[in-house]
Parts: sequence; structure tokens; C-alpha cells
Amino acid sequence: MEEKLITIKNNAISLILEAKNLKETEEIRIQFLGRNGEITQLLKTLPKLSKNERPKLGSLVNEVKNIIEDTLTIRVRDLKNNKSNNVNLSKFDITEPITESDRKLGHLHLVTQAIREITAIFNEIGFTRVRYPEIEWDWYAFTSLNFPTNHPARDDWETFFIEAPVDEKKGPVLLTPHTSSGQVREMKKGKLPIKMLNIAKTYRRQSDVSHTPMFHQFEGLVVGENIAISDLKGTLNYFVKSYFGENRKSRIRPYHFQFTEPSFEVDITCGVCLGKGCRLCKEGWLELGGAGMVHPAVLKFGNIDPEKYSGFAFGWGVERVLMMKEGIKIDDLRILYSNDMDFLKQF
Ligand code: DAH
Repeated sequence: MEEKLITIKNNAISLILEAKNLKETEEIRIQFLGRNGEITQLLKTLPKLSKNERPKLGSLVNEVKNIIEDTLTIRVRDLKNNKSNNVNLSKFDITEPITESDRKLGHLHLVTQAIREITAIFNEIGFTRVRYPEIEWDWYAFTSLNFPTNHPARDDWETFFIEAPVDEKKGPVLLTPHTSSGQVREMKKGKLPIKMLNIAKTYRRQSDVSHTPMFHQFEGLVVGENIAISDLKGTLNYFVKSYFGENRKSRIRPYHFQFTEPSFEVDITCGVCLGKGCRLCKEGWLELGGAGMVHPAVLKFGNIDPEKYSGFAFGWGVERVLMMKEGIKIDDLRILYSNDMDFLKQF
């Protein structure tokens, strides 16, 4: 009976949608809902059903009856308003019932999966995830991170500025180009020690095989008494082994950032040759991202006494670490955001 009902419903709806005038809609109404109509006949058989079946089928018949009535009302209204029927039934049948096997469950996007995994790894060692504005003041993104106004180092961040009134103290408004903009915001909360993990969307004017204008970064910041480079190195090692695998190693190389002193670039051993050097990595190492000891000027901007406290920070791209993880080979980063279901379904 259930199947019969579905057939009746589909049949009725397609007839209604194809009806050309009010005479036809009336004929359809009689065919299904009239005294001897198909639905009326079915309603009459209900009392003969067993007690178990009656409630379920009863409500189903009523549901179909309501659908037919509603569709008729809409069609009659449209015909009265002279509207043509735009639904192309041969292409898309909105009335088709779905079966259990048609119900496809989706899953989290692989960047979301990576964000959750990274968060869990850092939670383990006491970092708390925080969030700060993506639409940010220049002051938090640059000035408070020791970039003087008009300093050429700012250019590396290829920033999108927003047309908005410029604040006397905080300067222009922009789309934050890095999660480091959360550092001084976190310090200004006034609570020490700090163990922050800021994961957010970041924006830069760039688009090629390894860049998208919107991407994600995760930023760690630790501030307290006697925080040393060895603490940074220990944290890096812990993350690299937890995320990439026990067999991977990390190293730090001298570099320059305005907001850290000393500053480093962090590398990890290549997943293919494990540091020996191969065709893919050449030297055995792959670049992960930046890190360093928080610059005293930045601590001061955050109202923290650099004589008493020290800290380390790191900031890496979520998409980047995801691509570097063993087994995930993506030759164009932009595919992550092109809504290509064949690609996304694999993860
Ligand atoms: N914000 C830097 C970038 O986007 C990355 C970075 C470097 C973050 C060094 C840090 C750091 O916290 O200490 O390129």
C-alpha cells in the first residue's frame, strides 16, 4: 500500500503540473480526491487494516492527500495568474521518493578535520584555542608587532585593506593577513601565563598552485617566566611527531621576523626520504613555517614587562601542514576550495 501511495502521489503531481487550464485541474481533483477518487477509495479501506498498520498508513494517506490538495491550489492560482509551468519534469523530479541507500551522509571538509586534529594535539599540552577578529585594525596586525608605519617589511603580507574610516590610534581596517594579529590581543587580556592557540582564516592578495587568497593559520603563543628557546624546540618536536608521525624530525634555522628575536624558520624531515635527500625535497628537509622568541617591543605593546617575562611564538599554515602530511598529495592547493565533490569525497 505504501508503494501504491507513492505512485499515486507522483502521478497526481505530474498531472497537476502539466494541467493546461482550470478544467483539467478540476478533472484531476475528481480523479484523486472526488467521491470515487483514488485517495478516497484508499481512505475507505483503512478500517479494514489491522490495528498495527492503521495509524501509519492512515497518516501516510492523509499526507499524500494534503500534498495533492496543496499542489492543486498552487497550480490553480498560477493558472489564474496566467503563469506558465516552468518545471522541466523530464530533467528533475522533485517528487521522487528517496530510498535509504540514496541518503548520502556528508563529512567534514578536510581543512576542518585538520583544524580539529591540530587543536586536539595542542590541547593535550595545555594550549587553549582562542579566536580573534578576521576584520582587524592595522595596529594589531602590524604596528603592535613591531612594524613601524610604512616599514617595507609590511609588504610581504600582501594585505587587503578595507575602505573604512581610519582610527587615530589603530590606523586603517584590513583583513588580517596572519594570525599573529591575535598575539597582542591575547596579552592585553592581562592574564599570565599565556598558552594560546589562535586558529583563523587569514587573507592575502595571492592565488597560484600553492596559494589561495583565503587560507588558515594556527598561531601558538606562550608567555611566562623563564620561557626559553628549548621550550619552543620541545613544543615543535611534540607537534611534528604527533601530527606527522614519530619518524619525523624538526629543526630550526635563523631567519628574520619583526616580532620575534631571535627568529627562526622551522623545517621537518621529508616524509619520503626521512632526511636523507631525494628527488622531491632535494635536501631532505621541508619548510614548515615561522617561529621565534617574542620581541621585547611586542611584550611592551601587550603591557607585559620584558624584564620579567619572556615567550615564544609560532605561526603556520593549516593547508600547508595538511599538504605536507604523508599520504596527501595535492598539486594545486586551490582544489581545496573549488567545491570539487570527486576530490572532497576522498577524505
Ligand atoms: N605571522 C608569520 C607569517 O604569517 C608567521 C610567524 C612567524 C608567526 C614567526 C609567528 C612567529 O608567531 O613567531 O608569515
